[in-house]
Amino acid sequence: MRRNKLRLGVNIDHVATIRNARGIRHPDPVRAAGLAVLAGADGITAHLREDRRHISDEDIASLSDVLAVPLNLEIAATDEMLEIALRHKPHACCLVPEKRQELTTEGGLDAAGQHNRLKHYVDELSRAGIRVSLFIDPDETQLDAAISLGAPVTEIHTGAYCELTGDARAEELERIKKAVAYGYGKGLEMHAGHGLSYETVKPIAEIPELMELNIGHFLIGEAIFHGLEASIVEMRRLMDEARGVVPNGATGA
Ligand code: PXP
Repeated sequence: MRRNKLRLGVNIDHVATIRNARGIRHPDPVRAAGLAVLAGADGITAHLREDRRHISDEDIASLSDVLAVPLNLEIAATDEMLEIALRHKPHACCLVPEKRQELTTEGGLDAAGQHNRLKHYVDELSRAGIRVSLFIDPDETQLDAAISLGAPVTEIHTGAYCELTGDARAEELERIKKAVAYGYGKGLEMHAGHGLSYETVKPIAEIPELMELNIGHFLIGEAIFHGLEASIVEMRRLMDEARGVVPNGATGA
């Protein structure tokens, strides 16, 4: 199949993590979003967590006002988050599982086990014209549930692939490839993300059916050493290289 250019969604949550460590306004995640766009981000992703540990309600309001690229709002499937999403109407909403004590989103959403509970949220967001994405593990049962829920997009959790090493990582990569091909074949728009770095991104970016990667923590961490713009430019370069996209915008053989 033809490989489209892969979109890069830059997740700015951890700019807010640093800001919140001091409880002041600097560094501003909205300013980081603007820089990310200048550096080549195709979209901005932000996770409004129930405990507001990083991104705040005010950040979402500002991002909704100023962004010139699509905002992908990550939320748990709760009534509070649904109300916020319906108020701001971002381009997309990615439904993620959320546990209060976790350091980050630990696993995919159990779309199969929570089908009936999730249906209401997928329907309400879709009715408002928001593109709904479900963050799930690379598993056909979960993909079937996403299809039955009527979500047009799924984002495959790459966290386990990034954390594993050697044969175990290679096996997880195969699982991801199989799941992406399966979902794509059933008509889903396929995204992937979590834990991706310069070291892990290329094998994922090579998967031809993928349309978008969402990357945050590594880029914000790398920005400390090389600056946000340079970090995003390098990630974009690696993604393009994996995809066979040559610098003048053409697609290589
Ligand atoms: N995709 C989803 C659904 C996420 O929840 C996260 C983390 O907020 C990411 C992508 C980005 O993960 P990371 O910050 O590890 O790059």
